[in-house]
Amino acid sequence: SLPAAVTIYEVGPRDGLQNESAVVPVDVKAEFVGRLVGAGLPIVEATSFVHPRWVPQLADAAELVARLPMDGPTPLPVLVPNERGLDRALEAGARHVAIFASATETFASKNLNSSLDEQMAMFEPVVVRAREAGLEVRAYVSMCFGDPWEGAVAIDQVVSVGRRLLDLGASQLSIGDTIGVGTAAHVQALVRAFGDAGTGTESLAMHFHDTYGQALANAHAALQAGITTFDASAGGLGGCPYAESATGNLATEDLVWMLDGLGIEHGVDLASLVETSVWMAGVLGKEPASAVVRALG
Ligand code: HMG
Ligand code: MG
Repeated sequence: SLPAAVTIYEVGPRDGLQNESAVVPVDVKAEFVGRLVGAGLPIVEATSFVHPRWVPQLADAAELVARLPMDGPTPLPVLVPNERGLDRALEAGARHVAIFASATETFASKNLNSSLDEQMAMFEPVVVRAREAGLEVRAYVSMCFGDPWEGAVAIDQVVSVGRRLLDLGASQLSIGDTIGVGTAAHVQALVRAFGDAGTGTESLAMHFHDTYGQALANAHAALQAGITTFDASAGGLGGCPYAESATGNLATEDLVWMLDGLGIEHGVDLASLVETSVWMAGVLGKEPASAVVRALG
């Protein structure tokens, strides 16, 4: 049976905007986050404290956080890869952080300039210090279904990386299909494998990208497997800045539409979310990727 309620973890301001070629002014980002909170999203990932050379789109992280209600009722987590990122995030006033690991050696090298073991060594003091400061730490795992350089990624490898992050003290794993190649049976096998290793669905979130059009089907498969936290991006923002037609994250509106049809609670006001995504599409000067936004907008 399907869960009665789910938590939608909104990643548009971070995962969406980090992949847009246009750099959005900080005041527009702050308005975007505010509108998403206003639409009822229970958690909105705001930005990343990474090296600005690696993600210039989010170089204004500290200025943005200064404009946001970080102590308000809606958690506004930020990504931090290392202690330098944590220092910057704490100084800016962040109250929730997320680290981001890779399931594969190649992506750890490309995304974090690290090996699999080095990324864990980098994260360990981040998690310890964040928890000492009273913060909960989410941990992403990327390339859980496939990797553009390594091809298929073994389920055991994903479970092993995920378990190491939980052992460091992360409170939730977000299982990322970074390149959108996963399919429904694979999703369910991965959730089962985590369960067999002692990690239940309450510690897992699913993070789907829609590159192959599978994100919504995968979300449904994950619901059937008992997952109750889903990452999604308003309007389906994101995609590769170098490929005009490449798609981004699972669109929040598309997820909401499916959940409404299934009678699953989520607390989001679809009309104001669509209005927000139409506005942001106008800012970016492009059509929204979300089918539901195009249908209703
Ligand atoms: P590095 O070059 O190895 O860093 O990069 P380093 O530790 O050698 O330091 C080099 C310089 O960078 C030093 O400055 C540091 O102070 C500075 P210098 O002494 O040369 O003047 N530095 C920093 N500055 C600002 N903020 C920091 C920071 N850290 C070091 N945090 C590093 C290593 C991790 C920094 C780099 O690889 C990086 O920033 N990577 C981020 C990549 C990224 O943001 N990717 C996108 C997010 S992941 C994602 O989107 C996937 C996800 O959505 C899930 C999914 O879909 O799978 C989450
Ligand atoms: Mg992502």
